[in-house]
Amino acid sequence: MDAVRRQSERQRLKRAPIRGVAELWVSGPFDDRGAGFQTVHPPETRAVDVAGRFAVGKKTIRWEKLKPIRMFNFHMKYGDTDGTSCYAYLRLISPRRQQVLLTPGSDDGLKVWVNGRKVHENDIARGGLPLQDVVFAELEPGSNDVLFRVRNVVGEHCLYLHYRSLGGSVQVTLPEPLDAGGLAARLKEAAKGGKQKVAAAFLDVDWATEVARGDKVRGKKLFATSGIGCAKCHAAKGLAAVPGAPSLTGAGKRFTVPYLVESVLLPNRRISPVFRSTVIVTSKGKVVTGLVVGETGQVVTVLTPEAKRVEISRGEIEERKTQNVSAMPAGLVKTPRELRDLLAYLLAQ
Ligand code: HEC
Repeated sequence: MDAVRRQSERQRLKRAPIRGVAELWVSGPFDDRGAGFQTVHPPETRAVDVAGRFAVGKKTIRWEKLKPIRMFNFHMKYGDTDGTSCYAYLRLISPRRQQVLLTPGSDDGLKVWVNGRKVHENDIARGGLPLQDVVFAELEPGSNDVLFRVRNVVGEHCLYLHYRSLGGSVQVTLPEPLDAGGLAARLKEAAKGGKQKVAAAFLDVDWATEVARGDKVRGKKLFATSGIGCAKCHAAKGLAAVPGAPSLTGAGKRFTVPYLVESVLLPNRRISPVFRSTVIVTSKGKVVTGLVVGETGQVVTVLTPEAKRVEISRGEIEERKTQNVSAMPAGLVKTPRELRDLLAYLLAQ
């Protein structure tokens, strides 16, 4: 059954409108030392951290944003890149579990990972053209990391990138760099009395060290429905617990510690357009706020901050507005120790 669904989804994807990408994070060049794809470079070994730096010999390589001039041109950006690889990275936000069709082109060889899993490898020497390769990838509901490695043999070195998604439902984002210092500053600002309160106990914590010391077993209990109840909305393994809420599957391969701390303590700091909260007022005067996770001709299903699913019939809806607020509730975690253990559990996924 699943295979049939996937096959029909693929057929429809091939006819979906094609979209380009306005900007990517790129890093490089990394010397392949004559071994091509056999040489493994740091960006492909852990969750991508665009605030991170790589010491390569005497040089420091960073992530930088690059706009395409028809193509993402590594040769133009970095100069001579013979015998090296460059990486490109973006995040795709999807409202549900679905496939996307990536159609990259490259000069020369290309590898693609989605959420840390390799989905494509084409070890080839060629001139780059748009739409050379066909890569179907399964997206989780929520954010999905897509990492490209383009290895150059000699001369030109570039990536073309287009994709197709059903109903234009996939959004491209470039996560902003966030390191420990940046996180500390944001938490401090929030504690001083922003819209989202953060208790003083959460400030001045060295989160990377704390999370490394965290208790995964306790974290798992907190995550569960009987604990704080993150699992009422999120699945940490496999399918999303609630269809339509982001999956945290493979979090360890996708998220950095500062990103996770910020997501939980300051959910309204970056609101993805896909997961904005909606307010619905019914003709009976009932007000329901939450994430719209399902819509049919007759009913709209809303996931409330208390993780309840509420069905409202369309005929009863008097007013409906999307808010500039995340559907992820704030203030769920009460102590730094709870957060530390939760993140230790998530990062072990
Ligand atoms: C009522 C449902 C709900 C509950 C309960 C909930 N979340 Fe969320 N969470 C969401 C939604 C919706 C988003 C997407 C928010 C956005 O992008 O604006 C989200 C986003 C996140 C993200 C960022 C994911 C990404 O892909 O960027 C993390 C991490 C997260 N939640 C962790 C937790 C943890 C840990 C708990 C328990 C303490 C929790 N959530 C409880 C609904 C929930």
